[in-house]
Amino acid sequence: MELPVPNARAATQREGPGLPAAAAELFGRRLLVQTGKGGVGKSSVTAALALMARRRGKRVLVCEVNGGGRIPALLGVPAGGPRVVEALPGLFCVDVRPHEAMIEYGLMKLKSAALVNAVLENRVMRYFLKALPTLAEVVTMGKILFHVREQAGGRPRFDLVLVDAPATGHCLALLRVPATVLATVPEGPLRDDLRWMAAMLEDPAQTAVNIVSLPEELPIDETLELAAALRAGEIPMGVCFLNAIWPSRFSAAELPLLPDDVFWRPVRETVRRMEARADLCAVERRRLVSGLDLPVVDLPHVCVERFGREAVESLSRAAEQGLDATAALREARP
Ligand SMILES: Nc1ncnc2c1ncn2[C@@H]1O[C@H](COP(=O)(O)OP(=O)(O)O)[C@@H](O)[C@H]1O
Ligand SMILES: [Mg+2]
Repeated sequence: MELPVPNARAATQREGPGLPAAAAELFGRRLLVQTGKGGVGKSSVTAALALMARRRGKRVLVCEVNGGGRIPALLGVPAGGPRVVEALPGLFCVDVRPHEAMIEYGLMKLKSAALVNAVLENRVMRYFLKALPTLAEVVTMGKILFHVREQAGGRPRFDLVLVDAPATGHCLALLRVPATVLATVPEGPLRDDLRWMAAMLEDPAQTAVNIVSLPEELPIDETLELAAALRAGEIPMGVCFLNAIWPSRFSAAELPLLPDDVFWRPVRETVRRMEARADLCAVERRRLVSGLDLPVVDLPHVCVERFGREAVESLSRAAEQGLDATAALREARP
């Protein structure tokens, strides 16, 4: 399947030779947003992509959106909250929270901490921040996109910004908020900011939204709906990560070879259940692939007692292989 990137070749060339095309195309962007239904593995996949980008020598920033330190927890590093901290060499984390983002934005515009605090600690202003979700979304998106444009020493401070975005509906609102609010704001500094924010989010050379899904009926239904909504909103898309796939370990011919006695019966039953689950994954995967106009990157179910850094590392390797396979598939097509 083709990645819907008009300038994919340019992005690949920027990455240099020797890099698998799909990964290079994805990592040629400046902003990758991961979204999907709650609990499908958005944070895990985002953390895995961060490790992968870091292996490729990129300086990467992972933005959580009010995530409460989920990404640092998955990476096994201390949480830095709303401050940008270098969690691992070359890998930075920040939890973007609307109130703190508003203060930062105010400081940038008003250049006086006392004034910003006076405005923000104001009861009426607090009410507005709570009551107007779009305002919270504007500053949240504004902070994330500010980091995409942020410069240090004459070059971008981060090569890649990854967003562990909120679940489907909220993420769509977040991605659309600059364009939506733009229509209602008079000319002025806020309008200028909204304009570049909307332009960056619509630009497939800079931005891609990746969908994370699970090989189960409801997540696949929701993924197909989400992809359609993103297309309708003209939001540039990357790939779909199909997470936590159960592999088939036995062929239909091998299963009956397990002895049917008292000792082996529980083993047979466990294997039968595992195979049933793997079959279900395969069925749902086929439904996804046939209904979705995005490359699907398979990620395995990782069997661990505690899902942490090691599991994320293994997801990260699988994502790398999966992205290569996507490239190989595409090259194999006429
Ligand atoms: N590939 C996987 N294999 C096994 N378990 C997984 C996998 N990906 C995620 N999980 C489990 O699912 C839980 C939810 O993942 P998380 O990334 O926090 O989802 P989300 O951010 O979408 O809410 C994690 O705590 C982890 O235990
Ligand atoms: Mg999460």
